[in-house]
Amino acid sequence: MSVSRTDSINDGQFASLAGQARALLAGENDRIANAANLAALIFHALPDLNWVGFYFVDERGDLVVGPFQGRPACVRIAPGSGVCGTALVSGKTQRVADVHAFEGHIACDPESRSEIVVPLALESRIIGVLDIDSPVAKRFDDRDQAGVELLAGIYLESIRKHPDQG
Ligand code: SME
Repeated sequence: MSVSRTDSINDGQFASLAGQARALLAGENDRIANAANLAALIFHALPDLNWVGFYFVDERGDLVVGPFQGRPACVRIAPGSGVCGTALVSGKTQRVADVHAFEGHIACDPESRSEIVVPLALESRIIGVLDIDSPVAKRFDDRDQAGVELLAGIYLESIRKHPDQG
């Protein structure tokens, strides 16, 4: 079944979503708690998504699934594997218009048609990725990428130790 695209949110709505994210994560620097709340916020704020979540780098260097919204997902992804592993080794956002055309794409939810994965760099080390999937092909454009990268930056800022948190 093909799913057609609803309009995504505009720049003003992304700015408002960024404000909500800052408020939601303010005063807490636990990386799991903040990832859980940010995944839920994004999942309910952006139209046409079927999966939003985090993968974190473990001590072996693999990506291991963290907090997410959507169907159960692949637990472990090796560096360089799939869209997430490519974002990890390249350090660059991966925007895939048609996952069926991406060699090595890992299909966790067969409904996914397009995907964006943002690497999370903390003090120049990549600690994980933020992965967002859509059942609509070509769901993510330049504005979505800028908005999602902004939200990833708000997450990274939130998990740095706050001066008033010991
Ligand atoms: N499609 C991803 C795997 C993670 S799921 O989409 C939740 C990939 O190719 O890395």
